[in-house]
Amino acid sequence: MSKKDEIIQERIPRHIAIIMDGNGRWAKKQGLARMFGHKQGVTTVHNITEAAAELGIEYLTLYAFSTENWNRPKEEVDALMALLVDTIAKETPTLMKNNVRLLTIGDVNRLPQITREKFLGCIHETSANTGLNLVLALSYSSRWEIIEAAKRIAAEVKAGTLGIDDINEASISNHLTTGGIPDPDLLIRTSGEMRISNFLLWQIAYSELYFTPRLWPEFTTEDLYEAIVDYQHRERRFGKTSEQLKS
Ligand code: IPE
Ligand code: IPE
Ligand code: MG
Repeated sequence: MSKKDEIIQERIPRHIAIIMDGNGRWAKKQGLARMFGHKQGVTTVHNITEAAAELGIEYLTLYAFSTENWNRPKEEVDALMALLVDTIAKETPTLMKNNVRLLTIGDVNRLPQITREKFLGCIHETSANTGLNLVLALSYSSRWEIIEAAKRIAAEVKAGTLGIDDINEASISNHLTTGGIPDPDLLIRTSGEMRISNFLLWQIAYSELYFTPRLWPEFTTEDLYEAIVDYQHRERRFGKTSEQLKS
């Protein structure tokens, strides 16, 4: 029996965010170079995106490359940027077929020109799709995003278009790169690491966290279903008591 049969359709999370970790370790386990792990990781992205679209999830945010990942060896960074170009070319037809809209959060200006062009091209091509929103966090970190938001808010206050008293949860949310996107209901991290690594710090204030030892290249749709079922068994209290929620 598939875990999928246990999913309660009415309580499907609107937004799932995933820290896709463990590509390098997966490759090492097979005695292969790290890049093989990244390539296998793309296959997982393909499968998980299709499964999420089929389940009717509205937003899937994938942490693909962090601000800190720029500090990796140049060969790995270059190979990852090239893999991205390749992946976009191969996957755009699938995104179209599944009615998936590609979005990005992150500092696209730091991407090499060819990667940026292909990536923005795919965003444009899929912009009218109305199914799953696939949000790729590329050259993203939460602290970078918060700094950018603070600068924009300060500029608006200085220009007189925003009052200090108008700075609230909603206006801060709207100034983040995720403005307009609901906060994640469920955050999954693969590879057994129990950390957030500078991902969506503001947005996950009340997300349910799910950590699995599974490495990203071996993460399957069954694993995704299992995470959703686990999520559906939790009580999200948002500070209230259990009794309040029941009455
Ligand atoms: C995640 O896998 C992908 C990226 C961060 C680009 P890693 O490359 O971090 O794999 P590990 O953590 O070294 O195994
Ligand atoms: C987090 O993975 C970033 C992405 C998944 C893109 P890392 O492998 O870079 O995280 P740390 O450095 O081990 O925390
Ligand atoms: Mg890692």
